[in-house]
Amino acid sequence: MSVDPDKMDSLRPEIFDFKGVSMSHYFTNNWENIQNFQARPDDILIATYPKAGTTWASYILDLLYFGQTSKECQTSIPIYERVPFLDIYTSEQSGVDLADKLPTSPRLIKTHFPVQFVPKSFWEQNCRVVYVARNAKDNVVSYFHFDRMNFVQPEPGDWNNYLHRFMEGKLVFGSWYDHVNGWWKKKPSYSKLHYMFYEDMIEDTGREIDKLCSFLGLSPSVEEKKGITDGVQFDNMKKNNMANYSTCTVMDFKISPFMRKGKVGDWKNHFTVAQNEEFDEDYEKKMKDSTLQFRTEI
Ligand code: A3P
Repeated sequence: MSVDPDKMDSLRPEIFDFKGVSMSHYFTNNWENIQNFQARPDDILIATYPKAGTTWASYILDLLYFGQTSKECQTSIPIYERVPFLDIYTSEQSGVDLADKLPTSPRLIKTHFPVQFVPKSFWEQNCRVVYVARNAKDNVVSYFHFDRMNFVQPEPGDWNNYLHRFMEGKLVFGSWYDHVNGWWKKKPSYSKLHYMFYEDMIEDTGREIDKLCSFLGLSPSVEEKKGITDGVQFDNMKKNNMANYSTCTVMDFKISPFMRKGKVGDWKNHFTVAQNEEFDEDYEKKMKDSTLQFRTEI
């Protein structure tokens, strides 16, 4: 997508309630077509709350499936085209169209939808789904910086206000608490869902790639796996123009890079003591019935 930098601000959308979830028009305008999307049995859906490590997981999957066969594409086609974002619809791009036209098999498709918004054909076709979750504190920090630099996201306002809107579930794609729990609850009844944690990927990327491979039924050679594990390290992805979003013209990298810090625990540089106490108290209440456990430092 290319836009006039002077017009960037006019792209910023409003947030509104859509079927009980806070959304912007970029992700609701194509609702009918998205809901009618025809998944294929070998499609792989990569699902996350925004900023949980979507691009990281996408690039790992892309290399696992196509690293050997389409090296040229990986140096010329950005990850957001290789792994289309099903939910998005703007005057210049439609995730559904991109996914429909994907020449690859399997198709890797990304979504930020809460579980109840996923087109039913993915479930009917028994597609594999990879979900990545990230601890709430680092997730909201990353989302804040993303909303500052991405002009198709609503104006974030100041940090304190933003943090409170996160706690209220009033950011695009709704409540983090509902998102991570909604997908977690799907797991027992849907064996083709692999639920991963960003913190585990940071702790031991190779181990998490191994788990992913056994879920996907892939067995890369030792050499291939080493190449993938190296290629998806933060510093390497940050330098990689096909993975770092530098070709995306609705983002202002002078405000914040897309590949920002890639760490567990950056929340400590943002939360005040008072914000942290309030957040923890609220978190306990919201997560009291959840069996999900997140690490905020490793
Ligand atoms: P930070 O803003 O905390 O740095 P998404 O792809 O879902 O938008 O998530 C983006 C977040 O994942 C950013 O977090 C980004 O830096 C981080 N990320 C992307 N690739 C990564 C990698 N290879 N290793 C660690 N973190 C990565």
